[in-house]
Amino acid sequence: MHRTLLYGAQVVNSASTQTADVLIENGRVVAVGELAAIVGENCERIDVRGKLLVPGGVDVHTHLESPLNGAPTADDFESGTIAAACGGTTTIVDFAAQVKGQTLLDALAVHHDKARGRAVIDYGFHMCVTDLVSGKLAEFAEVVQSGVSSFKVFMAYRGTLMVNDGELFDVLRTAGRLGGQVCVHAENGDVIDRLASDLVAEGRTGPKSHLLSRPPETEVEAVVRAIAIADMADAPIYFVHLSTQGSVEAVAEARHRNASVAGETCTHYLTLDPSLYDQPGFKAGEVVLTPPLREKVHRDALWRGLTTGDVSVVSSDHCPYCLAEKERLGAHDFREIPNGGPGIEHRMSLLYGEGVRGGRISLEKYVELTAAAPAKQFGLYPKKGVIAAGSDADIVVLDPAGETVISAATQNQRLDYTPYEGWVLPGRIEQVFSRGDLIAASGTYVGARGRGNYLPRATV
Ligand code: URP
Ligand code: ZN
Ligand code: ZN
Repeated sequence: MHRTLLYGAQVVNSASTQTADVLIENGRVVAVGELAAIVGENCERIDVRGKLLVPGGVDVHTHLESPLNGAPTADDFESGTIAAACGGTTTIVDFAAQVKGQTLLDALAVHHDKARGRAVIDYGFHMCVTDLVSGKLAEFAEVVQSGVSSFKVFMAYRGTLMVNDGELFDVLRTAGRLGGQVCVHAENGDVIDRLASDLVAEGRTGPKSHLLSRPPETEVEAVVRAIAIADMADAPIYFVHLSTQGSVEAVAEARHRNASVAGETCTHYLTLDPSLYDQPGFKAGEVVLTPPLREKVHRDALWRGLTTGDVSVVSSDHCPYCLAEKERLGAHDFREIPNGGPGIEHRMSLLYGEGVRGGRISLEKYVELTAAAPAKQFGLYPKKGVIAAGSDADIVVLDPAGETVISAATQNQRLDYTPYEGWVLPGRIEQVFSRGDLIAASGTYVGARGRGNYLPRATV
């Protein structure tokens, strides 16, 4: 039996912080408390005095080796989960994307093949539904039975990914009856397409037009509409990547009347300014991600939404494409730039540095947003998202006295840029344990290859 004692740290969970030791046996936490004196000799002891122990991050919005935007994303399950591990994330829920004409079960099988034996951290899937031709709704039950209890649909990208309102209603009702959840990408795709065509007709074909074609109202209108449709379907709804003040308000209003509505935002909407679209040449292509970055008034509203709980999860929406690839595909027409940006590696550091040390959220809230709440939302808690007896020993050792420097040259994400180039954040993730194994140390992966387990998820 392998036993490890992490002793003397501040153990932070979403409900409390305590000075304690954590005893790990065979990949699980077996006790948290004053243990140093009572644990016998047959135990590896690791001194973590002065450090914070937080639950391994749970990132419920990633796109690894995804065909979603035509071009595959740059990180596969190996490179993407290594990057996650080095950044303190020990669980992901990744989007298995259906391609046109494919059955949902085939799409899932393809995604399992990509992840199996390659992921280094534990992983589950959401089912991303893009083609609702006849019969697909009937597959939902089997999808849920296989442990994929959440679905994603798009209200944008007509002709490729978008569902209409009737289809959204069908998906919500069908998933809801099965006890599943629907993750909604809320943007008014038709209005965006018209604004985008106008910009191209005016010769404004560069990356900044991505921002101009997606004003905040295009998100807010879709959020309000989707909440109404979820009400009609009597089903829960979860909004991915919320970026605007109006969306936070719409979600808050629904939650105050006890509707089953939840929302996430992503690290980049909290931290990056849309002035990045004014970078010279094609560099602005780095932040062609959807929805686009928003002004400070929206960032402030998102931070407020996190503190009130109306926005309950911070994910990465890691959807990486090299800048060279973005430019190859979209140099002459911003509509062809694959949408998405990186985030899996730096989500935990950014939220600690900007959120906790920036004075915006407490340590406990940090744990809630990055681990406990996403685990609860998607049926993984208390196996994941908490440091407590019985939970998987997924633990991050964070040194509050250290610092994190972000650079494309040193990142593990398989990418030729980071929008955070040169950022220096307070706090440093020193060690990362997954099921008791030390898998990352000082930003370097030190674990075994392909050690991640598939996580079938229950309905919640
Ligand atoms: O820009 C992004 N995030 N593209 C990825 C797909 C999505 O909408 O989540
Ligand atoms: Zn989306
Ligand atoms: Zn996404």
